[in-house]
Amino acid sequence: MKIAVIGAGYVGLTTAVCLAQQDNAVRVYDIDSSRLEKLATGKLPIFEPGLEKATRSALMRGALKFSSSVEECVRSADIVFLTVGTPPLADGQIDLSFIRSAARQIALPLKPATVVVIKSTVTAGTCRKIADLIARKRKAADITVASNPEFLREGSAMADFLNPDRIVVGADDPRTAAILAKLYRPITLRGVRLLSTSTRNAELIKYAANAFLALKIGFINDVAELCEHMDGDIAEVAEGIGLDKRIGHSFLAPGPGFGGSCFPKDTRAFAMTGRQNGAPQRLIETLIAQNDERKARLASRILNAGSLSGGGKVAVLGLAFKANTDDVRESPALAIIPHLQKAGVRVRAHDPKAIANARDLLSDVDWLDCPYEAARGAQAVVILTEWDDYRCLQLRRLARLMSGSTLFDFRNLFDPAEVAEHGLRYVGIGRPAAASRRRLKSRAGGHMVAPLDKSAAAIWQS
Ligand code: UDX
Ligand code: UDX
Repeated sequence: MKIAVIGAGYVGLTTAVCLAQQDNAVRVYDIDSSRLEKLATGKLPIFEPGLEKATRSALMRGALKFSSSVEECVRSADIVFLTVGTPPLADGQIDLSFIRSAARQIALPLKPATVVVIKSTVTAGTCRKIADLIARKRKAADITVASNPEFLREGSAMADFLNPDRIVVGADDPRTAAILAKLYRPITLRGVRLLSTSTRNAELIKYAANAFLALKIGFINDVAELCEHMDGDIAEVAEGIGLDKRIGHSFLAPGPGFGGSCFPKDTRAFAMTGRQNGAPQRLIETLIAQNDERKARLASRILNAGSLSGGGKVAVLGLAFKANTDDVRESPALAIIPHLQKAGVRVRAHDPKAIANARDLLSDVDWLDCPYEAARGAQAVVILTEWDDYRCLQLRRLARLMSGSTLFDFRNLFDPAEVAEHGLRYVGIGRPAAASRRRLKSRAGGHMVAPLDKSAAAIWQS
């Protein structure tokens, strides 16, 4: 089929490249011409594993083209995907102006009976409003607008597109639903379920799915705090509850709070939709507050436990909101670093991919391209992103370079006992020192290898 994609961000590029791999002819337009020029040479403006290679290969085969003219991009398309941003507004609602302006741009050049698909996350009812907008502009109601929400995690976006748990198609007429079912046949033929529903239900499914996943994270972070106060171990508790098939293991990793371009924005928009429609989403309202507070609380813990209230140096490892992306939108680092700076702490920051993006949003930070250099002279090292690069850190080398000795492992990457063996004081999430001593004992056949610093247990009580 002939496909047009408007908006060459994470979602647009992933959609375009994956559909180009499935024998479709795909054209992509973006309002940002410098982005398009770069893309036409096979260079990606974002880091997403596998996507650059796949873009180049699709360009070489001629299956993918970047177009600086929106008319040229959409005029012969059978399906047009809208994947422009829907950023958050200050009051929690989302900004739909890019969707509206993209719809206005494409309305006249579309050939009759084209299917427009909104893949960006939009509030329930948007598809119908955009269908009206296009019909008014064309003075004809021949264009249908469908919802096809994305469930693409940054870092594994291509795999999520090509091998999803399900595809959700929201269409308000059978022809539109059939066209999208045909488009996705290469995936559904492999046994992936396509749920066909109304546009409104599809829009609600997207928000409810992300809100539920975010709730799992918020829940496990709360249970992790309880573990800290009760000498429990969150790894074992999460394992125990995840073994129940009704709960499952995914999205039960505790951490510094969820970030990214979706969960924070989507939970706020979902809560706002609930309030505006007389159905307050109380769990989600509480979750939003908990997630915001979590970052401030972790910053206070770093200051208290690292004896840093009078200032000092801290190495922050990890600026991206999660591993395998250079995206820093709503990243925990963006909230925690300013808290430390306010207390007079000098921050030395490292990230394998996200420094360029973080630089625009943070000031007075020492940027280092090597985690060991970041740790040089630091009283404490704080791990905020679960990059594999950090899992492999040589603890002995880290300990030698630091001026202090506390390792805040807010992604639970390390074995506390191993950290202690290298003379560092370990502070993880939901794993107090006493619990790790017990595990250490059983793993070492009943012998203690190295006792952890006793003060670590008290840190979480602060
Ligand atoms: C997408 C969705 O838009 C968002 O709703 C969803 O929640 C997450 O996925 P993402 O792909 O991350 O967002 O967006 P972003 O990386 O910001 O890219 C959006 C692209 O659209 C940019 O390249 C921007 O230049 C382009 N754009 C924006 C247009 O082409 N036209 C516009 O009018 C506005
Ligand atoms: C999310 C959705 O998962 C995806 O379906 C799509 O709608 C876009 O938004 P993304 O934001 O890329 O994807 O990342 P995700 O893996 O969902 O993680 C979101 C945040 O939650 C990250 O900050 C991550 O570190 C955090 N997280 C995730 C946890 O803290 N614990 C977990 O167990 C999982």
